[in-house]
Amino acid sequence: MCPFNYPDTCTGDPNRREENYEIDLHAYQSLNESRGYVVLMNLSIAGAGYVGLVTGACFAKLGNRVICMDIDEMKIDMINRGLSPLYEEGLGELLITYRDNIEATTDYGYALRNSDVTFICVGTPSKSDGSFDLSFVRAVAEEIGKQLKEKEEWHLVVVKSTVLPGTTRDVVLPIVEKHSGKRVGRDFGLAMNPEFLREGVAVKDFLEPDRIVIGCYDERSRDVLRALYKVFSCPIVETSLSAAEMIKYASNAFLATKISFINEIGNLCKRAGVDTYEVADGMGLDERIGRAFLDSGIGWGGSCFPKDLHALIAWAQELGENPRILERVVEVNDLQPLKIIELLKRHVPLLTGRVIGVFGLAFKPGTDDVRGSRALPIVKQLLEEGAIVKAYDPEAMENFKKLYPQIEYCSSAEDALSSDAVLILTRWEEFRKLDYKGKVVIDGRRLEEAKKAKIYEGVCW
Ligand code: UGA
Repeated sequence: MCPFNYPDTCTGDPNRREENYEIDLHAYQSLNESRGYVVLMNLSIAGAGYVGLVTGACFAKLGNRVICMDIDEMKIDMINRGLSPLYEEGLGELLITYRDNIEATTDYGYALRNSDVTFICVGTPSKSDGSFDLSFVRAVAEEIGKQLKEKEEWHLVVVKSTVLPGTTRDVVLPIVEKHSGKRVGRDFGLAMNPEFLREGVAVKDFLEPDRIVIGCYDERSRDVLRALYKVFSCPIVETSLSAAEMIKYASNAFLATKISFINEIGNLCKRAGVDTYEVADGMGLDERIGRAFLDSGIGWGGSCFPKDLHALIAWAQELGENPRILERVVEVNDLQPLKIIELLKRHVPLLTGRVIGVFGLAFKPGTDDVRGSRALPIVKQLLEEGAIVKAYDPEAMENFKKLYPQIEYCSSAEDALSSDAVLILTRWEEFRKLDYKGKVVIDGRRLEEAKKAKIYEGVCW
């Protein structure tokens, strides 16, 4: 029996269905575009943050009908007008182009009645002890449960939020069962489908994934997700619910480990007069190692790596394990930004009253996000040592200002260049175009153009 009610996928010409699924993504898109509007599945997405919105917009692009749900009325209104409430490359364009396939609502009842699959995409922020806060996931699971009580048809609930192993089975499942009065595996399906989207390139990452991971409670759920993702040509990894949850944490922890590792090697290289980038290039050609995430510098930040590493460590300790490697990965990353201050002091020994230009406040280029940015501990240390900070970032100044209103924010990078020394903290393209001649530059992100400075020091090279 058809697991869901989609005329285009479950009834009609079976060859056409095969044709839709067996082709690669590009061909699939052109096919859809040439045929006009093809509805494949009815999806609802709980949480219109960057993961939820990118997921919704990309599924809409693939021809599915998507209902985004959020408690924020302003977001809902913007999405319904085809506008993106957040900046993410390509997202605004998708929301306007595929407007007919996407709607947004605060009404969970409406969304659940009019969809067959619901993705949970709400945040799992850190608590003060590093453990993760499940309150949004719990609240959404409860709401989904209440709405399923009113619905006769089978429905699939998919957790996409980053949650620790066991959460989908031990937290989401019982909440949905309790509030719906229904049985998992019989009345509704349950799956865990982690996301691997990088901020700034999330749309591209969604449409061109390296792999898709689906952990399923039951076969029917697996069949629906197989069908939903069949258009992708990458490997689809089918696992248990908990393995899917762990793959997400282990992937982020491994990437953070790679960076901390190369930074430790980089600190050694710096002392020995070796260029770590030459070392990384040489290492990276070994297929077992790979060159990605071996750019040394002042460390990793963002909304994910710090939160996920801390959650994993807190969880390991709870389980009675001593996660030595993970703890060191975080420790190396906490110390790494201070390397740039050490190097600065070789050239400006006393920072009191000296003007220091800070280039880049975002945790990486292409975003206005300052969460976990390496600029935070660096600016803190500069201020503690009495320096006068002149900062510039093309996107992130407003967000940084909320945390550090007391520093000077420049209207252009040129403006910030007129300082006693300049620190490069984010590798923004526009920093390449500056004239660094005659300047003192300490580089935390390997900007080739800055090497023309009168005095140039790289953190790990
Ligand atoms: C990260 C992961 O890369 C995504 O796969 C994952 O889905 C996401 O977290 C998440 O859990 O949601 P993101 O936080 O957007 O994505 O940032 P990345 O592009 O991975 O960069 C993280 C940090 O590492 C940045 O501060 C960046 O400057 C730094 N980095 C990256 C390095 O210092 N060196 C490198 O070689 C690469």
